Amino acid sequence: MTVVPREEAGGQRAGTPPLHVENLSRVYSSGEGQVQALAPFTHTFPPGMTAVVGPSGSGKSTLLNLLAGFDTPSTGHVAVGDVNLTTLSEPARADFRLAHYGFVFQNHNLVSILSAQENVEFPLTLAGLPPKERRARARELLALVGLEGRAGHLPNQLSGGEAQRVAIARALARDPGILLADEPTGNLDSKTGELVLSLLTGLAVQGRRVVLITHDLDVAALAQHRLSVRDGVVTAG
Ligand SMILES: Nc1ncnc2c1ncn2[C@@H]1O[C@H](COP(=O)(O)OP(=O)(O)O)[C@@H](O)[C@H]1O
Ligand SMILES: [Mg+2]
Repeated sequence: MTVVPREEAGGQRAGTPPLHVENLSRVYSSGEGQVQALAPFTHTFPPGMTAVVGPSGSGKSTLLNLLAGFDTPSTGHVAVGDVNLTTLSEPARADFRLAHYGFVFQNHNLVSILSAQENVEFPLTLAGLPPKERRARARELLALVGLEGRAGHLPNQLSGGEAQRVAIARALARDPGILLADEPTGNLDSKTGELVLSLLTGLAVQGRRVVLITHDLDVAALAQHRLSVRDGVVTAG
């Protein structure tokens, strides 16, 4: 693998593949019948940040899980550049996801027995990067999120905002073109949330596709593009 060096300040990231969904839908079957969690939806995600807003239960996480290929659609497909994510085999999809996607969840999902530095190194270890290079890359990423002084801390020795910034550093380890964030500030106080959002906004400005799920309209206002979801129906704006 190649690790792309840190971008020049304000520079555009080259070679980010387009993210397109075609006729994408998801119906869940449960004891009480069927739930159309996502109605057929066609959209090309532009570079920059797209906020996905909607009330609880409207289908936001369903959409994100489909975009990531964690879940299989009932109809349609997800394409990243020339690659149809939906028809890839499960192992190929996992490899593709590791190389092209970063994830930030409401809970940071850091590995509790690994230090901040080791958590950031983890995806690079999976990618087979030699120890010296992955240490240097992880240090660079921790500095990017302002946590060079916390490299040796375990997750439970970090504040919620610090842990979320480590999670962002980890999501960036392989310099993905697509970042998917599901309520990343949901558990943070507003000041810490703003810091995390400004990091994500900066990454979007560099030309990545950042899909930010939120039920907070103030947060959504920070994004260049917006989608609204209501009862599984996605509309622009
Ligand atoms: N695995 C599942 N099985 C059955 N129904 C589900 C499942 N996941 C989500 N749903 C239903 O699909 C709808 C959308 O859920 P979700 O995408 O999680 O909403 P949101 O993230 O906007 O809160 C809800 O009605 C939810 O109950
Ligand atoms: Mg959700």
